[in-house]
Amino acid sequence: MSKATVSAPANIAFIKYWGARDLERALPMNSSISMTLEHCVTQCTVEALEREGIDEIWNAEPDGGFGTPEPEFAQRVREHLARVRKWAGRSEAVRVATRNTFPTAGGLASSASGFAALTLAAAAAFGKKASTKELSLLARRSGSGSACRSVLGGFVEWAASRGNGNLDDDSYARQLADADHWDLRNVIAVVEIGPKTVSSIEGHRRALTSPYFDKRQELLPERLEKARRAIRERDLTALGPVIEEEAIDLHLIAMSSHPPIFYWSPGTVAVLRAVRELRQEGLAAWATMDAGANVHVLCDADSEDDVAERLEDLPAVGFVIRDGVGPGPDEETEHLF
Ligand code: DP6
Repeated sequence: MSKATVSAPANIAFIKYWGARDLERALPMNSSISMTLEHCVTQCTVEALEREGIDEIWNAEPDGGFGTPEPEFAQRVREHLARVRKWAGRSEAVRVATRNTFPTAGGLASSASGFAALTLAAAAAFGKKASTKELSLLARRSGSGSACRSVLGGFVEWAASRGNGNLDDDSYARQLADADHWDLRNVIAVVEIGPKTVSSIEGHRRALTSPYFDKRQELLPERLEKARRAIRERDLTALGPVIEEEAIDLHLIAMSSHPPIFYWSPGTVAVLRAVRELRQEGLAAWATMDAGANVHVLCDADSEDDVAERLEDLPAVGFVIRDGVGPGPDEETEHLF
């Protein structure tokens, strides 16, 4: 097939990728664990053209029109397309359009879903069949490392290394449990919209300058094990403290990097406070943030309405997005162009 459309979901990290051994190839310092979302997705159509040369890259707008993406983003897409083309053994140029179902670049992992969708749609347009492992490796090499987790549904672990030698072939994601395993909900309190002030790539670079970086690395093996166990046992009261601790550590490292990075806004603190109050009232709700100000609140299905209403009422919250665990990417028959 020369034209393919794939929708790939965003994911929210419980244990974060923050700091790399090799930034260009997105080889992380530590393993990470995430939950794949259901509704926050990127759709991507790739068509292999009957010519070689320059790729055409478009943003699909909600009104059905097409716009030109930011030059920096377009450049990253071109580089990744060159990588996928080489891997697939093809030479044709492609036409690409992408569309997000959620606000981009607000710490809502738009690059992860975007580069996962691009990888899978380009592989399909080039007619190249591959294992999930291969596709996860390829998505990781986009440089948006967390994209390697968005290739899978449910609960996912991306290993820093699986102990088989060459790190570049060895650092990819695998499913810990599928989407049906646990009906966990993610209420996203959006307190800031628009691009983040400092990119994740820059954050990874600066992370190693924080005096707390090594300390977190020491704590991680136990934290990873607790997260795996809590997911296996569907135990939110065990998972919750681990993910909150981990999110605070990421931001502690960002704030103590040289130069420092402050992703939080006053709204972030207001939501964190509300989440604590919800817990005092007996609801199991736990917060995490990626490299942005918005807060992802994890809760069970029975608490979702209460959590969403409380967060919606906060003056600092623009709106909430209600999401849950999703089954992973999907090839669609309807194309964006
Ligand atoms: C804080 O380098 O994968 O979200 O390219 O912006 O998607 P993007 O980021 P990436 O780093 C992700 C950083 C994080 C934590 C995580 O998702 O593990």
